[in-house]
Amino acid sequence: MDEKKKNQLGFIHQFIPSNNSKGNSSTLVLLHGTGGNENDLIPIARVLSPANASILSPLGKVLENGMPRFFRRLSEGVFDIEDLKFRTHELVHFIENASKLYSFDLEHVIAVGYSNGANIASSILLLRPEILSTAILFRPMVPFIPDTLPNLISKNIFMSAGEWDPIVPRQNTEKLFDIFKKAHANISIHWQKSGHELGQEEILAAKEWLSHHIS
Ligand code: MLT
Repeated sequence: MDEKKKNQLGFIHQFIPSNNSKGNSSTLVLLHGTGGNENDLIPIARVLSPANASILSPLGKVLENGMPRFFRRLSEGVFDIEDLKFRTHELVHFIENASKLYSFDLEHVIAVGYSNGANIASSILLLRPEILSTAILFRPMVPFIPDTLPNLISKNIFMSAGEWDPIVPRQNTEKLFDIFKKAHANISIHWQKSGHELGQEEILAAKEWLSHHIS
């Protein structure tokens, strides 16, 4: 790959093409948590996608005390909504341009996000749902309350929440679930006996769910 063209996409990222010779597989867009990087979720993507999906994994551009994120926050759980919306459109633009550079199909894009990455994936679902067919959201919270609900009728969403997550209260998870439900998404929720950290059991639950929703 031409490094110059790769750099012009505007996000440091990993792209791992599918080894499906028919070239019609899905692409997983991996969105790491605060302090993570573009390599973090690749082992999880490998577990989730036996069907040889391509992987596009950007590094968040916002630094908080040196820790990469996908958008600014004012404090824990209090988001800079203007920045969040700007970063959401910027990320969608990156995915669109990456699909041209790497020739992947924009009809089959699956977001896989953890924590801050799940929050920007939720924001994409609320602002630019056309770019995603499916989303797997580990420890998401309500990114913002939309003025008007999007139509998520053909979208598949898997949410995974921690029963005693100190960062995402249960009511916040339930509120996000309700927003997606009211927007007519095909949504499932998995409650994990854990805090904010990701566990093996929920990754396997997501894998099982995805095997029924991947086209
Ligand atoms: C985080 O630490 O990433 C928070 O839980 C979520 C966020 O700030 O988006």
